[in-house]
Amino acid sequence: MLRNITIFTFLIFVISQEQANGALHGSAKKMVDDANKNGPYLGLVIPNMFEMNPLLNSPHYKSTNLVIDYAGRRFRFGNIHKKQVILVMSGMGMVNAAVATQLLLSLFEIKGVIHFGIAGNANPNLNIGDVTIAHYWSHSALWAWQRYGNGPEDPLPFEGEGGFTREIGNLKFGRYSSNGDGDGDGDNLLNNVWYQAEEVYPVDSTPEQTQQAFWIPVDSTYLSLSKALEKLKLEDCINATTCLSKPPKVTTVQRGTSANIYLDNKAYRSFLYNKFNISPVEMESAGVALICYQQKTPFITFRALSDLAGGGSATSNEADTFSGLSANNSVIVTVEFIKLLGGYHRKMLNYV
Ligand SMILES: *[C@@H]1O[C@H](CO)[C@@H](O)[C@H](O)[C@H]1NC(C)=O
Ligand SMILES: *[C@@H]1O[C@H](CO)[C@@H](O)[C@H](O)[C@H]1NC(C)=O
Repeated sequence: MLRNITIFTFLIFVISQEQANGALHGSAKKMVDDANKNGPYLGLVIPNMFEMNPLLNSPHYKSTNLVIDYAGRRFRFGNIHKKQVILVMSGMGMVNAAVATQLLLSLFEIKGVIHFGIAGNANPNLNIGDVTIAHYWSHSALWAWQRYGNGPEDPLPFEGEGGFTREIGNLKFGRYSSNGDGDGDGDNLLNNVWYQAEEVYPVDSTPEQTQQAFWIPVDSTYLSLSKALEKLKLEDCINATTCLSKPPKVTTVQRGTSANIYLDNKAYRSFLYNKFNISPVEMESAGVALICYQQKTPFITFRALSDLAGGGSATSNEADTFSGLSANNSVIVTVEFIKLLGGYHRKMLNYV
């Protein structure tokens, strides 16, 4: 009996050690290799369960029941409109989004990445429930914070070739004093922050040779295909009595942005819209974009607007009321896009 317990304990130890080890080997490696024999797949990176559940419950999602857990992430296999997909939940924020995307692309044969979920809105011309397809994404919280006393004419530390830059733009805190006259000449010890590009290391470039990227475009073929989604009918009521005031739509917008910031502030939302023409604001897409860009993998993002970031309408907390509907709408758009993609690929094959 003691012997049995010892063996049992030993087995558990071996298995958990294998799961804890960063290197891919043993049964996990075999599962990944077997899965890749059936690839390539479309990869779906999803911020959290709130946005994954409507897809798991969608009649269009057919699970194959294959699940591979690795490095704390769960990769779920299935089909949508006869296209093979792998779902992975990223968790909140830029680091999680980038890690989940990189693991997906490093482990599996992936031909394209679709990212979807809900977002805050910075564009006063759009409405709650609208699903945005941004042409470009940026990470907007890599900053050079300028010392008090210096201004736009003064170089930043490490400015120059490949270093910090004043080209992208700055946020001047003095402009936002609530007791100021709002003419932009206010004085504030927080001074200026200057937006900076990310350092990137594309897979087809020389390692350790830094490149810069700020606005990352989504895949141009995916973007033009997604134009057909603009006529899609979306959900507009959460129940028999509570509906959006305007029927939501799918719309292409110029820019979205991400940061490790939950944005619920009207002044900053307006700044982002007026300075950069940003519509969706959230916490993950740029992480997905930066990885796909470097790994040369096509990607697109569908983000449904759940609130005007920082408030706006009479409804005090739109995010609480309409986030479920918005999550559903992002899934509706994703499923329909995958359907179109099927047609696209079949057509491509016919040409060959
Ligand atoms: C519909 O949803 C709203 C907001 O959650 C709620 O206040 C209302 O009671 C619901 N109505 C019905 C008929 O369930
Ligand atoms: C979202 O869709 C599910 C079905 O997938 C439905 O049960 C649920 O009521 C929808 N939620 C909202 C808020 O529309």
